[in-house]
Amino acid sequence: MYDKEINKRRTFAIISHPDAGKTTLTEKFLLYGGAINLAGSVKGKATAKHAVSDWMEIEKERGISVTSSVLQFNYDNYCINILDTPGHQDFSEDTYRTLMAADSAVMVIDASKGVEAQTRKLFKVCVMRHIPIFTFINKMDRDANDTFDLLDDIENELGIATCPVNWPIGSGKGFKGVYDRNTKSVVTFSDTEKGTKEGHAEIIDIEDDAKLTEYIGDDAKQQLFDEIDLLDGAGAEFDQSLVDKGELSPVFFGSALTNFGVEIFLKYFLQMTTPPLSRQADVGLINPTEKEFSAFVFKIQANMNKAHRDRIAFMRICSGKFDAGMEVKHVQGGKVMRLSQPQQMMASSRHIVDEAYAGDIIGVFDPGIFSIGDTICMPSDKFQYEGIPTFAPEHFARVRQIDTMKRKQFVKGITQIAQEGAIQIFTELSTGMEEVIVGVVGVLQFEVLKYRLENEYNVEIKMENLPYEHIRWIENKDEIDVSKITGTSDMKRIQDIKGNPLLLFVNAWSVGMVLERNEGLKLAEFSKN
Ligand code: G4P
Repeated sequence: MYDKEINKRRTFAIISHPDAGKTTLTEKFLLYGGAINLAGSVKGKATAKHAVSDWMEIEKERGISVTSSVLQFNYDNYCINILDTPGHQDFSEDTYRTLMAADSAVMVIDASKGVEAQTRKLFKVCVMRHIPIFTFINKMDRDANDTFDLLDDIENELGIATCPVNWPIGSGKGFKGVYDRNTKSVVTFSDTEKGTKEGHAEIIDIEDDAKLTEYIGDDAKQQLFDEIDLLDGAGAEFDQSLVDKGELSPVFFGSALTNFGVEIFLKYFLQMTTPPLSRQADVGLINPTEKEFSAFVFKIQANMNKAHRDRIAFMRICSGKFDAGMEVKHVQGGKVMRLSQPQQMMASSRHIVDEAYAGDIIGVFDPGIFSIGDTICMPSDKFQYEGIPTFAPEHFARVRQIDTMKRKQFVKGITQIAQEGAIQIFTELSTGMEEVIVGVVGVLQFEVLKYRLENEYNVEIKMENLPYEHIRWIENKDEIDVSKITGTSDMKRIQDIKGNPLLLFVNAWSVGMVLERNEGLKLAEFSKN
């Protein structure tokens, strides 16, 4: 019924290691979409402007983006939703959750660094979801690693086959442009003025030998011919069905800063990526073009407006059309309601939405009723989308309140913050909330916790870092007596907020050791419930 609108949608996340150029690339996308006039509006460290996603006080203090934001713009008849993921190494579980709302991912890699730690972690979540993954190898205007080595690195480190759609000619000072394997033409590199979209690129047919020599020189030309031969002989062929399954990543080369290769990338990407995907619910797959509206909550953002202490629940629309003011059902709460103050992010501001379609993300005012993973559907429907897994925290600290008189506020505050999904809390198997162990995906969340407990709940806390780095849920907990598990000296038994038993380890190898020592024990890095 709303097929036309829904099929126009492309909803994707950009993943990368900090400093690979994710923000710069996003800015250039927005520039092509006409959503902003000058690149630099998303984030300009130099001008001390803050990213449009900088909502929380703490972010402003640190000048980094704690929370992920969503940006929508139109380009070439597509309606594009970019889910931004925090770029600093102190990223949080929200970054992972954002990937649960995306239909595909763009992986930005620094050409002089190859695959880096954060990309590896985020990539794992994309693989778990089998979504298409596109690679943009950035910073070709700087000295880059050998192109074949870069591709090998992706294949070996991430275990995904690659298929270059274009191919770079040199790098750094010797960067001459890219060869488009599809059109069999060379697009010459020209350093556009920062912030503008026009360059002076020449497009030269690969057969036009004289012009090629004139523009890129004999040596670069010969090298290009050799590399094309190698590539045509050895590289994986483009296969859309493998791209769709997330088994083959189309690779592009460019330079986001100088705006080279960005529009070509955007054009191909939009053709190759997928419109909104169907989603698994307890009644089967729900198709996005189904008439009835449905959505799920993937992120809860607290305290965007300190004066109001409000929370915003971000939901991904999975099917049908959303109209402001319509009655919907919050399945987990069992209540029919109207979603209050629905809003979307457009380039530089939030604004109220009147209507939105499957593929879109909306934020709604949350009076404290929504939890991560909740389903919203029409009052006459009753189904639940598959939940969002709990991702493994990597840093742990023991937390106590300083003033013992404030115990009540402490328990309330830390429990609420955990319910929003900003942190995870654990306790010793035998004790209650006497002592709480907090687990986070990025260490900045510790600061966010401290800041929020002080500012919102008036509780000062003391934190003691714990050496654990690896956490495993016990998958077959009903068959296992946790107290009887033969552990290692660095293993600790705890339980999560729902009472699920868990094991913490300092060393990665201990995980294997414990599995070896306890036949039948099944451990998992994600928790499905
Ligand atoms: P991130 O969001 O992935 O963390 O990266 P971001 O875009 O902020 O880029 C990190 C740095 O790399 C920035 O420089 C940016 O200008 C630079 N950069 C991005 N793309 C390219 C590229 O294609 N070529 C080159 N040479 N540099 C690139 P900065 O000095 O840290 O910040 P700024 O002062 O430029 O804002």
